[in-house]
Amino acid sequence: MSKLKTVVLGVTGGIAAYKALDIVSKLKKVGIDVHVIMTESATEFINPISFQSLSQNLVASDMFSEPKAWEIQHISLAKKADLVLVAPATANLIGKVANGIADDMLSTTIMATKAKVIFAPAMNTNMYQNPIVQHNISKLKEFGYVFLSPSSGRLACGDVGEGKLEDTEIIVSRVLTLLYDIKDMVGKNVIVTAGPTLTPIDPVRYISNYSSGKMGYAIAEEARDRGANVTLISGPSMLKVPQGVKFISVSTSEEMLSNIEAIYEDTDIVIKAAAVSDYKIKEYSNEKIKKSETEIDFKFEKNIDILKYLGGLKTHQILVGFAAESNNILNNAKEKLEVKNLDYIVANDITKADTGFSSDDNKVTILCKDGRTIELKKMAKRQVAKELFDLINIVIN
Ligand code: CTP
Repeated sequence: MSKLKTVVLGVTGGIAAYKALDIVSKLKKVGIDVHVIMTESATEFINPISFQSLSQNLVASDMFSEPKAWEIQHISLAKKADLVLVAPATANLIGKVANGIADDMLSTTIMATKAKVIFAPAMNTNMYQNPIVQHNISKLKEFGYVFLSPSSGRLACGDVGEGKLEDTEIIVSRVLTLLYDIKDMVGKNVIVTAGPTLTPIDPVRYISNYSSGKMGYAIAEEARDRGANVTLISGPSMLKVPQGVKFISVSTSEEMLSNIEAIYEDTDIVIKAAAVSDYKIKEYSNEKIKKSETEIDFKFEKNIDILKYLGGLKTHQILVGFAAESNNILNNAKEKLEVKNLDYIVANDITKADTGFSSDDNKVTILCKDGRTIELKKMAKRQVAKELFDLINIVIN
């Protein structure tokens, strides 16, 4: 972290505005020059003097600037910024930027900057879920703006649901990754598996599971952003294929294995987030099964455990498994870590609705082969991916 970096922090008018004070203080602690821009409504929640004291820079807010002074100032801050963070970001500000409106200091700065812009939204659940807000967010994401999704919990208005500003620790860590463009996986070949696998019964039927692929896709994106050559081998998923990764679509566990085997020797890291079918049908029917009987029985036989097989072949590769558990989580995960000869296992409780298969969040504990147990808070799946690579980085570089 050599050159002094500048972050412009935009604070909009929401009850979470007070949390932005903590963000300033955390950024200052790691030596970042912080310039705060407050919208007029933000100044109703927090006195700009608090931000001024913590950032040790004058706060730009329309209330205190001379008439129209911001028309020039926004250019200087927009140029100065290595990164612009808006936290909390209200529906109003997101809507303005998504629709090209620049009518105050913050929105003009965002419009004028060439730096990366991150939005950390915080608002009432119904507002956040409003299709207009969601449409604005998708539109901005397409233009390359980064969003740190709000977490769920009790909101200031008393409602419970999505809309809480993401943890300030996580916001700051994401800012640092983007700011310093951490590229610790350059030249590393990484395989990520994701999604479910299918167990075909006949030409029209199969058995599968509820895996959405979200965890694996987030891992593939994080590895890509850190400079790795990523091969994402995925079972059926509704998710958009991440750009900049080699994508292999599979349906059965056999296909998943053969695609991994073909490149395993030259691979540095394998992360198996896929929910692989443990059994396959013993006698696949080449013809469509007719509904002639009142009952029907199928016999299943064990599928190969891909990860265990890879653990047996391991030479230099780092192997990471996932343990989807509903009870006795840590003991089961530890056993899988040992039996499959893994370096890390990421254990999660699949019974929790807000961190399960199709959720954007996860709450995991990472067990390492050296005996360490790292319990993480509930966080976005992308952040879990980041934490995992921070751990791997220590052993691989
Ligand atoms: N796995 C695999 N091949 C299988 C089954 C699982 O590679 N046939 C991998 C998964 O991708 C995951 C890890 O093994 O990384 C653990 O999967 P999980 O379903 O939690 O456990 P299992 O080993 O299948 O054991 P059980 O279902 O009895 O909990």
